[in-house]
Amino acid sequence: MPDLENFFGDRRAREIARHITPDLSPEYEVIDIGANDCRVTEKVARQVGSIIPVDILDTGRNKTGLELTIYDGKTLPFPEASFDAALLTFVLHHAVDPAALFDEAKRVIRPDGRIVVIEDTPASPLQRALWEVIHERQHKRDSKLLEAHDIKTAEGWQQFFQQHRMRAVRVERFRNMWISNGFYSHTAFVVEHDPTAT
Ligand SMILES: C[S@@+](CC[C@H](N)C(=O)[O-])C[C@H]1O[C@@H](n2cnc3c(N)ncnc32)[C@H](O)[C@@H]1O
Repeated sequence: MPDLENFFGDRRAREIARHITPDLSPEYEVIDIGANDCRVTEKVARQVGSIIPVDILDTGRNKTGLELTIYDGKTLPFPEASFDAALLTFVLHHAVDPAALFDEAKRVIRPDGRIVVIEDTPASPLQRALWEVIHERQHKRDSKLLEAHDIKTAEGWQQFFQQHRMRAVRVERFRNMWISNGFYSHTAFVVEHDPTAT
């Protein structure tokens, strides 16, 4: 019997990594915040100098051999300016306090560092309705993930970055059959400090 969960999980991770790695350099030191099963971390690891996966809980589904650091969800256990880049893929809309989490990501990257954010960004009422159904099904095993629901449009996330004195220097909207069966849009943002922010 083929291991379908493994097959689909691997394809999904490969597709997500495809939207991350063009914005990272091979020598980068990266933190993957909200890494969960570390499948995406593992794919990105092949393209960067080093990567550290962290999360607030260990689901026991990390079979990659990468060591997942568990923390309290408030203060990342690293000094400021420790990394060239932080990843927040499909994490902010699950965070109890997305603004505080984003501030923490900002704190641990270097002043010229970047944060790669990928979010579900349903682009119409129909996509939003599909998102509700699919999101609930996807996370029924992890009921904790259904507690927070800070879903925004792509424009809403860009305003959020501006409120944190950062700006998206690249925005890519995409739909992908391995990530959500193509039912709704996702957006990848490459976010950097905004030198013009007052
Ligand atoms: C949908 S999973 C995304 C996993 C992975 N980034 C990916 O793209 O496959 C969301 C993850 O965010 C984590 N999370 C929620 N709040 C967090 C926080 N404050 N700090 C770190 N991780 C958090 C959850 O525990 C969960 O593992």
